[in-house]
Amino acid sequence: MARILLLFAHPVLENSRVHREFLNQIPRQEAITFHDLYETYPDFLIDVHKEKRLLLEHDFILFQFPFYWYSAPALLKHWMELVLEHGWAYGKKGTALSGKIWMNIITCGGSVEAYQPQGKNRHTVEEFCYPFEQSARLCNMNYRNPYVIYGTHRLDPEMIHREAINYRQLLLNLLTEKPVSLNTIQI
Ligand SMILES: Cc1cc2nc3c(=O)[nH]c(=O)nc-3n(C[C@H](O)[C@H](O)[C@H](O)COP(=O)(O)O)c2cc1C
Repeated sequence: MARILLLFAHPVLENSRVHREFLNQIPRQEAITFHDLYETYPDFLIDVHKEKRLLLEHDFILFQFPFYWYSAPALLKHWMELVLEHGWAYGKKGTALSGKIWMNIITCGGSVEAYQPQGKNRHTVEEFCYPFEQSARLCNMNYRNPYVIYGTHRLDPEMIHREAINYRQLLLNLLTEKPVSLNTIQI
């Protein structure tokens, strides 16, 4: 069974409608580790050693966050800057994350129509995610297209619940995938 690390970054979970419902649907399984970055590091003081250990212990690295200014909330960017170190995550000797899977799970206020070349935002979410895609490639990881929920402001509670059930199914499907071969890299 694959092991999933859910790196969750929502700066104001108390105001969340969508992610809050999603979190209720995370399957309670040992193979899934839920890690709330804003709760763990409210002061942005990231424990790099702990984060590296978590990464080594999992196959799927799922970054879950609301789209903020066409990217991730600040703590996730900070996490990337500190944790994905040269010589560990990338560079000639940086092979710790080789073969692991990187996938973003993103909620957007904007509609799917807005994220088109002719739409208000002029680019797709996949295009806005190029920095994540290339970061994954630099770390020799396998990048999967993001799982995106659009138009969150227009979702009523029933629609949000349905989206949350789909999200649960996504996690269950990932669990059945083949694990990445164990990495013996030390931190
Ligand atoms: C500071 C801020 C920036 C945002 N930027 C974007 C954006 O660039 N694109 C977008 O589609 N939605 C944007 N939104 C809307 C959020 O993505 C949306 O409210 C969130 O995904 C809903 O999930 P939640 O109910 O779990 O908070 C932004 C919201 C805030 C507060």
